[in-house]
Amino acid sequence: MAKKIKVGVIFGGQSGEHEVSLVSAAGVISAMSPKKYDVIEIGITLDGRWLTGKDCLKSFTKHNFKNLKEVTLPTNPKKIPFDIVFPVLHGPYGEDGTIQGLFDILHIPYVGCGVLASSTSMDKLQTKALWEAAGLKVVPYVGFNRKAWKKESSKIIEEIKEKLGFPLFVKPANMGSSVGISKVKVLANLKKAIDLACEFDSRILVEKGLNVREIECAILGNDSPIASPVGEVIVGGEFYDFYDKYVNGVSKTEIPAKLNKKIAQEIQEVSVKAYKLLDCSGLSRVDSFIDLDSGDIYLNEINTMPGFTSISMYPKMMEAYGIKYADLIDKLIALGFERFAEKQKNKVTFDSGSEWYR
Ligand SMILES: Nc1ncnc2c1ncn2[C@@H]1O[C@H](COP(=O)(O)OP(=O)(O)OP(=O)(O)O)[C@@H](O)[C@H]1O
Ligand SMILES: [Mg+2]
Repeated sequence: MAKKIKVGVIFGGQSGEHEVSLVSAAGVISAMSPKKYDVIEIGITLDGRWLTGKDCLKSFTKHNFKNLKEVTLPTNPKKIPFDIVFPVLHGPYGEDGTIQGLFDILHIPYVGCGVLASSTSMDKLQTKALWEAAGLKVVPYVGFNRKAWKKESSKIIEEIKEKLGFPLFVKPANMGSSVGISKVKVLANLKKAIDLACEFDSRILVEKGLNVREIECAILGNDSPIASPVGEVIVGGEFYDFYDKYVNGVSKTEIPAKLNKKIAQEIQEVSVKAYKLLDCSGLSRVDSFIDLDSGDIYLNEINTMPGFTSISMYPKMMEAYGIKYADLIDKLIALGFERFAEKQKNKVTFDSGSEWYR
């Protein structure tokens, strides 16, 4: 029998999406075949402690940590107690390249995007700038940082009024789950909305508010990624906000989205381009808008660790492609090993005296 793969599944984390991560991790762990995998559960508390032990995830769900022990990560790669890690973490410190950097330093293979793709994708401003530079369409926006806002708010407001008009969406560049996002319909509420966004991040973007259909596409792969059939989120309230996502849940989803074939295909193609441009690997969910007034398609954002319960959009869209949840996890783990092996090929030293260097 083949040797079992030791997988460190990491969940929780110091992020507003801590609880969401626990639900995603429960899905992942229950779908991992015990014949193929030895799962080592590792939870990160909201205050940043790494804990492990029997039924670690259950303990996290109950906020009862007393039977768990602290994790100590050896700095010698040969002593790392798992073959690969699966960071089922959403938001800051999990999806933003920081933990990926730690795994890189320790030479631990991991599931999902690397440092560059994770950190870029976490920042809505950076992502949009790169897509825009490559000719991919994004909703018109104005970006600035908190310090500039404190110093020259009237200049920024003028620019917003001139370039975008109303309604607007104000967003912190670095949060997820719609935290800190406001829809602003009149000038009188703009300042307050920007001040709120400034509480969550130092980088802010203000976007033209469109009348949209929200279309998502699941991408899987390293060098030749595949795109799932696209799905639609049909928003219940004013926009797809935190309450709609996780509390009252009035939104509905439709997979595949009821769309003209050509448009669906165009969104799949743009999503793959968007993924490759950011150097993503493993997986990501690319979210787009269709502007109901013009019919134009805009890229909205990319999530490198999208919601991952068995009923979340990403796994559902992959299922529509023909990849079942448990198989998806197998593929993600294989892709993590593949990317690691590829990275090992990079030279880390070079001979400065060699001919070609001069
Ligand atoms: N420019 C826009 N025009 C119309 N609606 C928008 C616009 N930007 C955002 N929205 C609405 O707000 C919701 C949240 O915005 P967005 O997807 O940018 O952030 P987020 O959901 O916090 O990020 P994440 O998906 O990573 O959790 C969208 O799903 C959509 O309903
Ligand atoms: Mg979103």
